[in-house]
Amino acid sequence: MSDKKIVYSGIQPSGNLTLGNYIGALRNFPKLQEDYDCIYCIVDMHAITVPQEPKVLRAHTLDILALYLAVGIDPEKSILYIQSHVPQHVELMWLLNTMTGLGQLQRMTQFKAKAGDNKEVYAGLLNYPVLMAADILLYGSHYVPVGDDQKQHIEMTRDLAERFNSRYSDTFVLPEMLKTKVGGRVMSLQEPTKKMSKSDPDANGYVLILDDDATIRRKFKRAVTDSQGKIAYNDDQPGIKNLLDIYSACSGKSIEDLLKAYEGKGYGVLKEDVAEAVIQEIGPVRERFHEIRGNKAYLEEVYTSGAQKAAYRANKILRKCYKKMGFIPR
Ligand code: AMP
Ligand code: TRP
Repeated sequence: MSDKKIVYSGIQPSGNLTLGNYIGALRNFPKLQEDYDCIYCIVDMHAITVPQEPKVLRAHTLDILALYLAVGIDPEKSILYIQSHVPQHVELMWLLNTMTGLGQLQRMTQFKAKAGDNKEVYAGLLNYPVLMAADILLYGSHYVPVGDDQKQHIEMTRDLAERFNSRYSDTFVLPEMLKTKVGGRVMSLQEPTKKMSKSDPDANGYVLILDDDATIRRKFKRAVTDSQGKIAYNDDQPGIKNLLDIYSACSGKSIEDLLKAYEGKGYGVLKEDVAEAVIQEIGPVRERFHEIRGNKAYLEEVYTSGAQKAAYRANKILRKCYKKMGFIPR
């Protein structure tokens, strides 16, 4: 193993990914491969904390794998695998469950939001962050690139690591969140004060990575703006601000330069140009995705060898935990 620091992240195969997932998470992953020892997971065990259609879950799992590859994650450089193929995650989760406070789990904002008003709330949804902690701790991960919404879960992971370390002896690395520099929060095109999300009932609110060019143009054309009629970057004009953020993230141009270039121009032109910048950025990803997604044998080869490498590492740490806790070694 190299002496590089370890980066770990996971994405749930629970739906089609949006431009928000792409700018906020996915497209940053391949860049990290050069400087870190990276491990990227498809967290299918997390996806089942809300009901899933088996056929759809299967398809989405392979979609995420193909997307990881399409954005440029190289399975020779990084470990790329499916969570359920490495049962050590669930084993460590059980150990950690025995030292996780029920109150702390009940206070998680994501749990409260997802449990919402549902009459029937299952234990898996409550324990979701314990599984996430197990994912991260099992590999001695130093950095976890995720969006702001995952902050509480990372804090809980650190709490659990500290608790285990102080109860038994130094075992786990305390991980840190790795924040995205640009585009940490892409907003909805219809309600620009809300995060862009694939669970938005209004499909015009989000752009999917796999949307075709015509759909992307149409969604930007319909993007909600305001009646001020001037292109500026401030919180009074959240729609325009979001368009500029997306434009900047996709074109690499600074907000300052964009403001200069669009001085005195209308919203229509801006929307058209943002759509083109987005198409330029994600069009090639979509093409590679379709090529890779059709190659079942290749996908299988990637996830099989990924799971072997992941399990080898996970096992080392898990054995230590069992031993320290007083289990008889096999
Ligand atoms: P999720 O779709 O919630 O499983 O999120 C997968 C990853 O994408 C996480 O790291 C999120 O923080 C990130 N993400 C999701 N939506 C957005 C958004 N609208 N803007 C930026 N990042 C996002
Ligand atoms: N909870 C994360 C999300 O919804 C997904 C996730 C599961 C994850 N395990 C992880 C992210 C480990 C980073 C590291 O986005």
